[in-house]
Amino acid sequence: MSKEMSRRSFLKTGTAVAAGLAVAPNIIIAGEPSSRKKDKKKKVAANDKLNILGVGIGGRGAADLKEMETENIIGLCDVDWKYAAHVFDRYPQAKRYNDYRVMFDEMLDKADAVMIATADHTHAVIAAQAIAAGKHVYCEKPLTLTVYEARLLTKLAAKHKVATQMGNQGASSEGTRKALEWLWNGEIGEVRRVDCFTDRPIWPQGLERPTVEEKIPSTLNWDAFIGPAPMRPYNSIYTPWNFRGWWDFGTGAMGDMACHIMHVPFKGLKLGYPTRVEASSTKLLTDCCPSAEMIHLWFPARDNMPKLALPEVEVRWYDGGFMPERPEGLPDGFNLNISGGCSIFYGTKDIMIAGTYGRDPILLSGRKPEVPHVLREITVSHQQDWIRACKEDPETRIPSASDFCEAGPFVEMVDLGVAAVRLQGLNQILEWDGNKMEFTNIPEAATIKIMEKDGFKITDGHPTFNNTYTDPINARQFAANLIKRQYREGYVLPEMPE
Ligand SMILES: NC(=O)c1ccc[n+]([C@@H]2O[C@H](COP(=O)([O-])OP(=O)(O)OC[C@H]3O[C@@H](n4cnc5c(N)ncnc54)[C@H](O)[C@@H]3O)[C@@H](O)[C@H]2O)c1
Repeated sequence: MSKEMSRRSFLKTGTAVAAGLAVAPNIIIAGEPSSRKKDKKKKVAANDKLNILGVGIGGRGAADLKEMETENIIGLCDVDWKYAAHVFDRYPQAKRYNDYRVMFDEMLDKADAVMIATADHTHAVIAAQAIAAGKHVYCEKPLTLTVYEARLLTKLAAKHKVATQMGNQGASSEGTRKALEWLWNGEIGEVRRVDCFTDRPIWPQGLERPTVEEKIPSTLNWDAFIGPAPMRPYNSIYTPWNFRGWWDFGTGAMGDMACHIMHVPFKGLKLGYPTRVEASSTKLLTDCCPSAEMIHLWFPARDNMPKLALPEVEVRWYDGGFMPERPEGLPDGFNLNISGGCSIFYGTKDIMIAGTYGRDPILLSGRKPEVPHVLREITVSHQQDWIRACKEDPETRIPSASDFCEAGPFVEMVDLGVAAVRLQGLNQILEWDGNKMEFTNIPEAATIKIMEKDGFKITDGHPTFNNTYTDPINARQFAANLIKRQYREGYVLPEMPE
């Protein structure tokens, strides 16, 4: 067998490996014999490099690729060749594309792994195709726009036994590890309430759909940017970067930042699927996310951990300037905005505050607990830890810190919160069946109307309110579309594995 063949057959996790292996949690098993630990170590020689394709490279993707430069970057795709020019220039050896479908047709079989940092609405369709072809995937947060897409990527990744990582880099950080170990050691006791917030959006939100059609720049493949979303006329408000504030392309402040802020609550309290959700916001419009949101998610009791009981818990999210109440006893002047927000855990014994990315966790009592280490210490970057996982044997692989087996269900929670914002017109607490991916208490005949245009103006010195709304939309149908989107022709997802 040639050297290349044997390297490929090792790196390729493929579908040939028997399906059904449950991905092990990212936890050191107490008393694990050191010989077993040794077996799990990287088996690929240092000079065995992955062949990586990058999709969406002009923004965050550029930073992700820099962390992957130990490997071969063989192909790059971006819809905006002006915005991404500096990244194309950095990797002159990589073939260039402006439509990932063409790149995949020509190069996916030559690749071991794919890095995805496009606008949120295209993550799922790109990742699903790569995974179904047996490729390892690094995908930026939020992993997907909808609950269904997150479930699909979770199941596909397990089926094809590929190494995956969502780009919530705080998951690999020292702060996150510390916060989780404190929680699991029972340092703050049982938690029944967690408040989280972000100072985002710092990009435009609360806008009406533009009515002006601008000329598409010659350097932009607008059709490819739209991807699976419904086609709309080009306007420079949407991309680059601002896509996050538009429902068709992004998930607003919650989708953008909850992956960095709610990871410690999700993992630390083993939240799983919520059963109820309620949301409100500033003015809700058809196309653009509102400027500020409040979302409440309720979780039923989960199985207790050895040192931590997990009773039912309410998790609250605030953004856009809304803030959670300050915990009693928090010193005046203490800024809860730690790198963009924080999460506050109300325990029966203490209160823990952890910043964005799990940064700088503290206990309100001022104690600094010394607890046993039960989590793996990650001493390389988030991206490099994924590369390590890619090179390990799928049967013994230690998953990355945000492997899709965890990131998928986590993002389902985030996507559900975002969907609830859009359903606030129902004026009810929504009941959620996580297994079925369905709201169970939306009345059959319920309808929803959403504001298209705010018609407020002063006419002859008098305020007039002449808002325009959509026709009433069947709420169940609308909700179902928020959970599983219809894709534009030319874009399909693989079947949901059993
Ligand atoms: N982990 C982090 O800290 C972090 C930070 C910023 C952004 N992000 C995430 O990264 C993703 C990109 O955000 P950004 O801020 O870099 O946005 P951006 O608009 O600055 O960059 C996205 C790039 O992808 C390109 N692109 C968009 N759709 C594409 C498609 N279908 N095919 C190929 N290229 C496409 C754009 O032209 C652009 O170059 C988002 O999901 C975002 O949430 C993560």
